[in-house]
Amino acid sequence: MTLDRLVIRRPDDWHVHLRDGAMLKAVLPFTARQFGRAIVMPNLKPPATHAADAAAYRDRIRAALPDGVAFTPLMTAYLTDGTDAEDLARGFEEGVFAAAKLYPANATTNSAHGVTSIDRITPVLERMADIGMPLLIHGEVTDQSVDIFDREAVFIDSTLAPLLDRHPSLRVVLEHVTTADAVAFVRAHAASGRIGATITAHHLLINRSHIFQGGIRPHLYCLPIAKRESHRLALVGAATSGEAPFFLGTDTAPHTVTAKEAACGCAGCFTAANALELYAEAFEDAGALDRLEAFASLNGPRFYGLPPNEERVVLERRPTVVPDVILVSEGDAVLPFRSGETLRWSFAGAA
Ligand code: NCD
Ligand code: ZN
Repeated sequence: MTLDRLVIRRPDDWHVHLRDGAMLKAVLPFTARQFGRAIVMPNLKPPATHAADAAAYRDRIRAALPDGVAFTPLMTAYLTDGTDAEDLARGFEEGVFAAAKLYPANATTNSAHGVTSIDRITPVLERMADIGMPLLIHGEVTDQSVDIFDREAVFIDSTLAPLLDRHPSLRVVLEHVTTADAVAFVRAHAASGRIGATITAHHLLINRSHIFQGGIRPHLYCLPIAKRESHRLALVGAATSGEAPFFLGTDTAPHTVTAKEAACGCAGCFTAANALELYAEAFEDAGALDRLEAFASLNGPRFYGLPPNEERVVLERRPTVVPDVILVSEGDAVLPFRSGETLRWSFAGAA
């Protein structure tokens, strides 16, 4: 018997880029329509480094919400070499920050102010471990001599493993994992309860060959870059396992069409328009729709020490056409992942 209707607790998105200004206004309704809460990335220009920046950004997000939509933005601090442990801890204790994000300097979009060497923030990490503040990591080395497809695996060995040893009680989320190496590492540390990993919809659906199918496909370029098929299968295995450390984080990362379709195009896939429908396809292909709720709605809140959402949402088996483009402002648009294609599932709102 095939399932035609799926009711799950309202999910949360544990990794989103909402941007600011006109872009925020254009993309926020998509995330807020499907998800109850979201961990909002701080890589704005300039980045949100202090609690005051994050609180002001949170107010702008709330102000950009469509009327009557209940959505809770959970803010993050952008760590730099100069982050002050006291300011950070105060922001966490006052409820402004839910976590802090570590971008190795120049690893990805708007990460130029990121941390140049993890040793430089040892006192900050010690403080975070003391107060139970999660560290969210973009796990790629920035050494350009390391092959781009190996940067996550090398980061795990060279940086993440020693970091966990040095800070035995620090809680860590390895963001947007893309390799079998990451899945194995997270599983090996699962018993400690202090490591989590987000998985995007696009990394469950594409491998690196898709980026070059019939020509170069800039809208499938994101960081970390999609890896070979064996890695995609490992991610599907992890996401659909129901295991506690793996949870939903779309890493939806909108850029304008002009910024994507360029000689040096920006990294990021915009999946927010149909995030849950995309995850549903990946889970169905793996014969694991019954595990979607654990991944999308239960494992994340458990890691963050928050209650799961009480409300239920409905997914129905009927075609959804992904919008061709999302207009941002006069002359500026974002192309959604699978733009114009038909998906098998539809998000039907609250139960
Ligand atoms: C993100 C962005 O555009 O902000 N890009 C991406 O490819 N995922 C940054 C990030 O999460 O690496
Ligand atoms: Zn991201």
